[in-house]
Amino acid sequence: MKSGKNIFKNLKTRVPFFIPNITANDKKLVSQSLGSGLLTNGPNLLKFEKLFSKYTKSNYSVGVSSATAALHLSLKALGIGKGDQVIVPDLTFVATANAVLMAGATPVIADVNIDDYNINIKSIKKSITKKTRAIIPVHFAGNPCDMDKIMEIAKKNNLHVVEDCAHALGSFYKNKHVGTFGDLGCFSFYPTKNITTLEGGMIITNSKKFSNYAKISRNHGITKTLQERYTGGFPWEYDIHEAGYNYRMDEIRAILGIQQLKRIEKINTLRRNAVKYYHKKFFNMDGIEPQFISNIEKNSCHLYIVRINKEKFGSERNLVFKKLLERGIQTSVHYKPLHKFSVFKTLKVFDNLKNSNILFDEILSLPLYTGISKKAQNIVISELESIKNEK
Ligand SMILES: Cc1ncc(COP(=O)(O)O)c(C=O)c1O
Repeated sequence: MKSGKNIFKNLKTRVPFFIPNITANDKKLVSQSLGSGLLTNGPNLLKFEKLFSKYTKSNYSVGVSSATAALHLSLKALGIGKGDQVIVPDLTFVATANAVLMAGATPVIADVNIDDYNINIKSIKKSITKKTRAIIPVHFAGNPCDMDKIMEIAKKNNLHVVEDCAHALGSFYKNKHVGTFGDLGCFSFYPTKNITTLEGGMIITNSKKFSNYAKISRNHGITKTLQERYTGGFPWEYDIHEAGYNYRMDEIRAILGIQQLKRIEKINTLRRNAVKYYHKKFFNMDGIEPQFISNIEKNSCHLYIVRINKEKFGSERNLVFKKLLERGIQTSVHYKPLHKFSVFKTLKVFDNLKNSNILFDEILSLPLYTGISKKAQNIVISELESIKNEK
């Protein structure tokens, strides 16, 4: 397949890759909020944070403008910067490693497991140097990483852990929500995620110090909250100890977050049912191997990924992607491994990244969204089956 051609042109979509779960009531509330006096940094943000802490059972939640902002602030809260190394998995969205660069530190890329695509424990161990300060495990597609082992390595080597939970709202490891094992956990509410605030993110932590740091830094470094500034003294009487960022979450986003978080179990149950249906149908399909999911009931089921085995299936992944698209089915690849991007090519790597290379050639993410119908799933399954052995 020539990559230069516009393969998306003139194609009619029968099954989209995702559809966000936004109701008529959500839209009504958003519209109402535009008439309120406080459009950002307001009561809805506080309410969203409170609900988020309750759901994840974390002491503090800090709403921000994206998961990238959340990761960046988390690393800054830990004092990670120039000269430090942070271990990240090769198979992740580029933001995981970009955040390390944004903090002034260096990402060190580790390999992933061939079955659940999560960061590989042996590869973490190989990647530790005298400069390593932290690990960022990514709960890939909602599958929790082996947090017992990761925390054991971190403890032994005096490392921090920032969990990238961008995919994993509603994923539990040993009955505890992911993001509560490390120092901080970071969530994304990008449009394709299980809940969306359009753009948006959240940090969770049990540390008051980290939470305070994130709350100040997301708002330009201003030492007082809006409430504090307008309830005592002059509102301009605040200080800046360290330059901060504009990583705030506005009220519209917070309202969307609150509404969807209230129905997260319903959202995730529908996604889990869809995953179980795909699993059942692909169980006996030669050449199609779904990502291993340890416990569907405790998984956010953010993505449904299969490996296309070229020999057994008779067609290679790129061709399958193209043929499905021609037949109106949108799929995707999560992700091109970090080490293949120019920006990371010069980094030192301590492992051979064998698994992420194998996976990158074979993985395909199938349509999965809240409320996807069996009819839509059957179209995906039968069209995929019909492509078998096409060259
Ligand atoms: C694993 C992972 N980390 C971080 C991010 C960054 O999220 P955001 O777009 O909210 O900055 C994403 C977004 O797709 C992601 O998938």
